[in-house]
Amino acid sequence: MSLHLPDGSTLAYGAATASYQIEGASTEDGRGPSIWDTFTARPGAIRDGSDGSVACDSYHRYEEDADLLAGLGVGWYRFSVAWSRILPEGTGRVETRGLDYYDRLVDALLARGVSPTATLYHWDLPQALEDRGGWLERSTTEAFADYAMVVHERLGDRVGVWATHNEPWCAAYLGYAAGIHAPGRREGGRAHVAAHHLVLSHALAAQRLHEAGVTAVGMALNLAPFWPETPEAEAAADGIDAIRNRVWLDPLVDGAYDEGLLAVAPELADPTVVRDGDLELARGSADWIGINYYTPFRPAVPDPSIPVHHELDAYPGAAPVSIVVREPRTDIGWEVDARGLEELLVETYERTGLPLVVTENGAAYADDTVDDTGVIDDQDRIAYLRDHIAATERARAAGADVRAYILWTLLDNFEWAEGYTKTFGIVHVDPQDQTRTPKASYQWFAQHIAGAD
Ligand code: FCB
Repeated sequence: MSLHLPDGSTLAYGAATASYQIEGASTEDGRGPSIWDTFTARPGAIRDGSDGSVACDSYHRYEEDADLLAGLGVGWYRFSVAWSRILPEGTGRVETRGLDYYDRLVDALLARGVSPTATLYHWDLPQALEDRGGWLERSTTEAFADYAMVVHERLGDRVGVWATHNEPWCAAYLGYAAGIHAPGRREGGRAHVAAHHLVLSHALAAQRLHEAGVTAVGMALNLAPFWPETPEAEAAADGIDAIRNRVWLDPLVDGAYDEGLLAVAPELADPTVVRDGDLELARGSADWIGINYYTPFRPAVPDPSIPVHHELDAYPGAAPVSIVVREPRTDIGWEVDARGLEELLVETYERTGLPLVVTENGAAYADDTVDDTGVIDDQDRIAYLRDHIAATERARAAGADVRAYILWTLLDNFEWAEGYTKTFGIVHVDPQDQTRTPKASYQWFAQHIAGAD
């Protein structure tokens, strides 16, 4: 077991999942409703009308999932904790049975030689807190830090590497501006307030975790490598770059929001929102940075012949641009180019000087090729993984301090607004009975980790 980040002497490997996407058991053992339970019930919110109430049933099958991790030979498993299992009302009363579940999970991992790394927030805010304003409300930041300490108190003797947030850009801007993720609100520039509260909640939790002796608190960010089509597009897309990338890194590194960001997000110049001391608390609060990478981002000057990316609603205040998506693409429509990962790792290391972990990387493919033995022969996914692991190694060779590559994802699961229509897993999960069947990519990843690839 390791309570520390991998030392980086070689690239460590892991696999990732998230609570709402795999656990199911959404009303069991006192779990309170989260914003994803509410959002998935909204007609039209989820492509196939599905939800995470059963998902992969990992709440009951975690031993089997731990066996799958052991079979891969990964050193790390990145899971997330469902806040509303621990504090069903978001604050106050602690549900011991929720803590017991993660306790059992951690022990199951350790018994198999897999080190756990916990993410405290992968988008499933307790509905009770959303009812009081959610991430638009400053008190949610204190509630988050309290929750972090409840989880740490139970697991901290066995979990040393913590991520506060997963992809806070999605939580703030898909949730409160574009409205395509829970809680499904379209609040325009108020989403910048949510972003600041996510930063602040990280900083408050990090301070308290550090006081409790933790030395590895990070955040998993879906930073985007910006590949503007033209110099005009580069200038036009500055606001988008600010909202996607700088709003997270600048407070952590500089303790500031820059002028370009404030130009598109005047909400962040309001001293009742960004209060004295907030940004100072954020500066230096991260011990490591997680990079979730899937695809590059190619802004172009607005062009009616290029469809405007639906997520552009998620950049309130920024000038509109068109987004070019080149071939090849995965089944979810995301361009494949591993150079984006290499560039992000090198640039994020230059920017922060912090140890990095690839906290997510993987691909959705339709998985319709089955070999003679009945195994899903997902050569496209294998090629994607091979190329992106090679890109990670190139970034290391170029000097970036990348400690681990954590694959998204172990299991086919509930893919948010896409429901069960997009599969990223290296293990197929039968939607009827949750039977797990490793794909060819699972075997390939195991061989690669063993050094046999
Ligand atoms: C990321 C999410 C993760 C999963 C992958 C495909 O944005 O963090 O939960 O949905 O994308």
